[in-house]
Amino acid sequence: MAKLLIAGGAGFIGSHTTLLLLEAGHQVVVLDNFSTSSPESLQRVAQLAGSSASARLCLVEGDIRDPGSLDQAFQTTSAPCDAVIHFAGLKAVAQSVHQPLLYWDVNVGGSQRLLAAMERHGCHTLVFSSSATVYGYPDRIPIPETAALQPINPYGHTKAAVEQMLADLASNEAGPAASGPSRWRIARLRYFNPVGAHASGRIGEDPLGPPDNLFPFVSQVAVGRRQRLKIFGADWPTPDGTGIRDYIHVMDLAEGHLAALEALWNEPPQLLTLNLGSGRGHSVLEVVQAFEAASGRPVPYDLLPRRAGDAAESVADPTEAHRRLGWRAQRDLATICSDGWHWQSLNPEGYGSGPA
Ligand code: NAD
Ligand code: UD1
Repeated sequence: MAKLLIAGGAGFIGSHTTLLLLEAGHQVVVLDNFSTSSPESLQRVAQLAGSSASARLCLVEGDIRDPGSLDQAFQTTSAPCDAVIHFAGLKAVAQSVHQPLLYWDVNVGGSQRLLAAMERHGCHTLVFSSSATVYGYPDRIPIPETAALQPINPYGHTKAAVEQMLADLASNEAGPAASGPSRWRIARLRYFNPVGAHASGRIGEDPLGPPDNLFPFVSQVAVGRRQRLKIFGADWPTPDGTGIRDYIHVMDLAEGHLAALEALWNEPPQLLTLNLGSGRGHSVLEVVQAFEAASGRPVPYDLLPRRAGDAAESVADPTEAHRRLGWRAQRDLATICSDGWHWQSLNPEGYGSGPA
């Protein structure tokens, strides 16, 4: 059993990963300020894990920018912390354009404080949530990890900046003047488009306000919370004219984090940089059709002009993740849609619906 600190563990990806870690027998301390999530997600994680596993879950409500909260999280038990998974941050591209300082403060400043706390508490193993957004407009499809990093919005800049901070940390003791190799074991995981929900339908994605992203919008239309989907662009150079993305089931993503932790623990200190995607691309219209089939509900839509900042296509080359971790996304689009619909139909208002 390892002790893990999960920053942002109440959020969409964090809650699913926390559940998996509890089921794998680990002790989990979640540090979260609930700025974009609800404590209800962790209550449901505890229920799903069962009473014996949930005894290994502990919550510290606090901000990663606050050293006191960080110290409290590291010191919840006397056992040393074996690793941190860092999900805490802000992710709305449009908001990042309007509030760039907030994004640099939370995503970059918060990561710097978290890393400083890891140093203070002698923990040098980290899994960091990066994003395919660091590739900007990709210069080839599928996108390998070696593709150029050319983010095109403040959110993407903050992710690339943290990636650089981590590279500096991983190499700072390994240079010519170094006394020895770096102690840091770091995985920078570049997620493609995380979607879907736990098969129980008890936990899932619950964005605040109108969703920016395709999947939650489609499912809210299907459940009757919103009237019509706006499809941004039907004139892309793709087979049906709509944008293509690599959608990855959130449970596949959660499993990727466990695989990354195992690799970091079992191999010498290193800096791992991996795409977590399925390697399969689906168009917006394919998603609409798959969701209609899974839900049995219509998803009416309007075709609008392209959204600023969108690329025609974004699909991962997941070869390296399979080679390094033995991990591969297992769940297909039909499963993503049926699990997503299960969550949305049981919780039409998200966690605000009350206990499912
Ligand atoms: P989310 O908003 O559901 O979860 C983020 C969690 O972090 C929330 O619980 C929030 O309350 C917490 N948080 C935010 N700021 C904090 C702070 N200052 N201190 C403590 N807690 C804080 O988002 P998610 O989809 O679960 O994303 C998790 C991570 O993965 C983020 O870093 C995001 O940038 C990255 N990511 C997400 C996607 C995606 O499409 N969901 C894609 C690529 C990368
Ligand atoms: C977006 C962000 C990206 C971020 C990711 C995860 C932009 C430009 N990119 O990725 O930086 O890492 O979310 O948070 O915001 N679409 C519609 N109608 C909608 C919503 C989306 O047609 O209401 C289309 C988009 O044009 C795109 C596809 O659906 O072709 C997927 O969009 P979305 O879910 O927002 O993800 P990304 O744009 O890939």
